[in-house]
Amino acid sequence: MASKVFKLIAEEAHRQKYELEMIPSENYVSENVLKALGSILTNKYSEGFPHTRYYGGNEIIDKIEIYAADLAKKLFKVPLAFIQPYSGSPANMAITMAVCEPGDVVMGLSLSSGGHLTHGAKFSFSSIFYKAVNYEVRGDDWRIDFNQLEELAKKHKPKLIWAGTTAYPYKLDYKKFRKIADMVGATLVADCSHITGLIVGGIHESPVSYVDIVMTTTHKTLRGPRGALILVTERGLKKDPEIKTKIQRAIIPGIQGGPHNHQTAAIAVSLEEALKPSFKKYAAQIAKNAEVLAKELGTVSETHLILLGLTDYGYGLGYQAQYALEEAGITINKNTIPGEPASPFYPSGIRLGTPALTTRGMKGKDMVKIAGWIKRALEEIRGLDLPKEQEKRKDFLRKAKLKLKGNKNLKQIRKEVEIFAGKFPVPGVK
Ligand SMILES: Cc1ncc(COP(=O)(O)O)c(C=O)c1O
Repeated sequence: MASKVFKLIAEEAHRQKYELEMIPSENYVSENVLKALGSILTNKYSEGFPHTRYYGGNEIIDKIEIYAADLAKKLFKVPLAFIQPYSGSPANMAITMAVCEPGDVVMGLSLSSGGHLTHGAKFSFSSIFYKAVNYEVRGDDWRIDFNQLEELAKKHKPKLIWAGTTAYPYKLDYKKFRKIADMVGATLVADCSHITGLIVGGIHESPVSYVDIVMTTTHKTLRGPRGALILVTERGLKKDPEIKTKIQRAIIPGIQGGPHNHQTAAIAVSLEEALKPSFKKYAAQIAKNAEVLAKELGTVSETHLILLGLTDYGYGLGYQAQYALEEAGITINKNTIPGEPASPFYPSGIRLGTPALTTRGMKGKDMVKIAGWIKRALEEIRGLDLPKEQEKRKDFLRKAKLKLKGNKNLKQIRKEVEIFAGKFPVPGVK
């Protein structure tokens, strides 16, 4: 009898095809990436690095890992690449361990300003084992406050500065980051996870000539399997000639065991794809789509994502918006907005993006249509403001969800969305 899992995978495939996937960190990988991921390479243990494995039988695995690293070096124009991090968070942990001693100061953009957990957020290893200092965004347009960043850097003398974001709709000025890092002798690390595809596509400037180390997840705009790359630049090698050994030791035995070889192979396939001219077209279309979508929603985007504050609709409406849109067949995520007026758990904004829709072949005119559905769906959350009293929130949100579940307008939008989405192919889904 076939595993129950395959029935559930079929249900998820249906969801992926008939809904609009707009979480900006998600994408659809190619059938070749899926093939490599589902291969027999998962059977092999290969702790260590090519030619220095603990176990035998790794001749072919060595070739695959070396090939993947060579592709990464070629694509990003760096002298050193690591393919083994299981995902972005462990990669950032490995970098922090390689660069810092426990207790050293690390600086990153705060979570509520659009930074990542691993850049010094509360409850993350990055603030448990290190002294985390956060810089922020400021002003009506929510841009990084470089004056504050400089002041904080001079005061706290960080060993590591993160230049990377997870909910920030603008291009990053790596030159400014470099200048501040040099003032205090910090190692500068670009975490490009969200925007790597745009960098590879030439839409955003590459950080490689400005920073010491680059980290990127492979599964977002780069359109590979889940995973991450650590890339060391010429500058980084010069700054610390021991950095290769330090990163290797941080990966294993520091935090990981055997590498996921099926994942390494799938990363190699996705890097081959990213090296093709067609990837540049894809990246340009992601950005064009985001620009159109942002404009239709009354905001701006220089990236693949849009951060939309919902304070015009009411108080603390991010959760309600996420649920209403899910009912309408549109998947986005609730998100804090800078200076979050409500709560990190029930925030005041949503984050949405175009990488996955663009993979399916959607263009500007489709974004206009989608923005129309989003605006219609958001009308349905008016009046569902989060109670100011914390103890009332759970019960209120349970009732709000029930109300949205039975909402006729959202059901009508879902019908329209399903007819529309079903016309665009999803690789690996019939
Ligand atoms: C900027 C950034 N860094 C790191 C990560 C962590 O990646 P993962 O979820 O693969 O651990 C993310 C994921 O959202 C991210 O956006």
